[in-house]
Amino acid sequence: MKLSEADYSSLWAGELAQRIAEQRVRIENDIHTYGQPVLDSEIWQKALRQKHHNYWTVGSHSMSVCVAALRMSYWLEERGIHTDRKRIVRAALCHDLGIIGRDEKYKNNAVCCHRHPIDSIPIAREIYPDIDEETIEDIRWHMWPMCLMPPTNREGFLIILADKYAATGEGLPIDRLERYQKMLNISILSGMQTAR
Ligand SMILES: [Fe+2]
Ligand SMILES: [Fe+2]
Repeated sequence: MKLSEADYSSLWAGELAQRIAEQRVRIENDIHTYGQPVLDSEIWQKALRQKHHNYWTVGSHSMSVCVAALRMSYWLEERGIHTDRKRIVRAALCHDLGIIGRDEKYKNNAVCCHRHPIDSIPIAREIYPDIDEETIEDIRWHMWPMCLMPPTNREGFLIILADKYAATGEGLPIDRLERYQKMLNISILSGMQTAR
């Protein structure tokens, strides 16, 4: 039997929907496995109230970064490139926690931009007393290239990419955000935005 174009697109849509559903389960598992101490912390409650990038919060932004970085990690894994998901989840959820209380702590946005990765580190250490130094490095230098040090591991690179992706989308008006997500969905990170 010859399949029509419509058959192919519905097959493709079905496959994509299934893939997205499977990835959602996987993302939830990874976040709960490695990120539960952050989600259970008092500071996370503050993160969900601290405004960030117009209409977002530090909490919702950090979760977007985490989901995007995990999707990239799965994509790499399918191509034989390993990344450490424990490190990704820990770094993604903690990378901006230093921003909390920014209006009281920082004189202006430039100071906040420079200081918040440094201030996120003691918070991450308190939540994860066993955190490894590479994860700390990923938090410390996540603003690259606006800071000196480029990433020295794959996970750090994914955090930087996911952070830029999330921050760019969060700064857009809603109609542009939808088009931005659609464009990336097709061209770069298949399925990533649809499942957010
Ligand atoms: Fe940041
Ligand atoms: Fe961020």
